[in-house]
Amino acid sequence: MKVADDWFTVRWQDGAVVMIDQRLLPEQEAYLRLVDVEGVARAIEDLAVRGAPAIGCTAALGAALSAQLCTSPDPQAVADEVERACARLAATRPTAVNLFWALARMRDTLAELAAGGADAAAVRAGLLKEACELVEQDVEICRALGAHGAGLVPEGGRILTHCNAGGLATGGYGTALGVVRAAAEAGRNPTVLADETRPFLQGARLTAWELARDDIPVTVITDNMAAHLMQQGEVDLVIVGADRVAANGDVANKIGTYGLALHASAHGLPFYVAAPCSTIDLGTESGADIPIEERGRDEIAEFGARPVVPAGVPVRHPAFDVTPAELVTAIVTERGIAQAPYTESLAALLS
Ligand code: MRU
Repeated sequence: MKVADDWFTVRWQDGAVVMIDQRLLPEQEAYLRLVDVEGVARAIEDLAVRGAPAIGCTAALGAALSAQLCTSPDPQAVADEVERACARLAATRPTAVNLFWALARMRDTLAELAAGGADAAAVRAGLLKEACELVEQDVEICRALGAHGAGLVPEGGRILTHCNAGGLATGGYGTALGVVRAAAEAGRNPTVLADETRPFLQGARLTAWELARDDIPVTVITDNMAAHLMQQGEVDLVIVGADRVAANGDVANKIGTYGLALHASAHGLPFYVAAPCSTIDLGTESGADIPIEERGRDEIAEFGARPVVPAGVPVRHPAFDVTPAELVTAIVTERGIAQAPYTESLAALLS
C-alpha cells in the first residue's frame, strides 16, 4: 500500500510555493502557484491549504519565498524581509501550533546563518533548503507515527475519524490517516467512517478523496450520525488529529472532536489522538490557554452558494474545540505513544 503519488499537498517548485487547492476538492484537482508572501498567507487563511502540519510546511516555504524575492546584496535586508514575512504568516490562523513552530525554526535558521557570516545569497539558499527539508521530514515523521499507531488497530478495525488529518493536512501520509495507512500496510484491513465535518466538509471532501485514491474502504457519515453508529456497534475506535496538544494532554482539534470523544467514552470505545511532536506545546499549560479561531459567517450561513440561515440571524463559528485529557486514551507521536498522566508522558517524549 502506498500513498497515491499523482498528487501532493505543498512543495517548492520553480521559484514558487505550489499547492493543491483543497477548496476545490473533490470536484477539481487544481494547483495554486503562489509567487508572493501575501498569496501564501491568504491561501492559509482561506483554507486552500489547511491541517496543522501542512500549515507549518506552507509557512516555512512562504518564509523561504520572501528571502528569494529580496534581491538586495545586503544579508540584513534579506533578514528584515523574512522577519516581515514571518509576522504576516503568523497572523493567519491562531490555533495550530505547527504554524508558530515552523516559523520559529525558520527564524532560528536565519539567526544561525547570520551568526555564521552568510552573505545574502547564502541566506536565501539556506532558508530554502531548511523549508524543503522541513516538508520532507514531515512525511518521514508521519510514517514513523503511523508505524507506532498501527498496533492500536485490530484486524478489520472500524475506525471513525473527524475532519482530515491525512496527507492533505501534512507534508504527505497523514497523522490519523497515517495510522490508518500503516495499519492497511500491515495487512490489518481497516475500514474508515469519515465524519463529513461541517461546515468546511474536510471529512466528506478530503478524507474520502484521499482514502479512495489509496483503495482504503471509506464511508462518509454526517457528524450527527456518530453516536448512533457507536450505539449500533459499528465503530471499534476513534482516531483524530490535533492542532495543538497542551502540556496536560488537552487536545485542540476541529470543532466536533470533543463531542466525539464524549460519545466514545459513553460507549467504552478508545479515543486516540495522532499528532507529531511539533503539535505538542509544552508552553501551553492546558486547553483553556489554547486560542480558538473564530471564522466568518459565510462558511456556516451558506451551503455551496445557497443561503441556509435567514439574513440577519447571527451564527457562531468556533473552528476548533478542546477535548479534555481524561477523554484521550492515548496520543500517538513519531517518538512513541503517550498515555496518562500526560504531564509526565508528554514531557518525557519531548525531552
Ligand atoms: O481548519 P482545518 O481544516 O485546518 O482543521 C484541521 C484539523 O482540525 C485537523 O484535524 C488537524 O489540523 C490535524 S491535521 C494532521
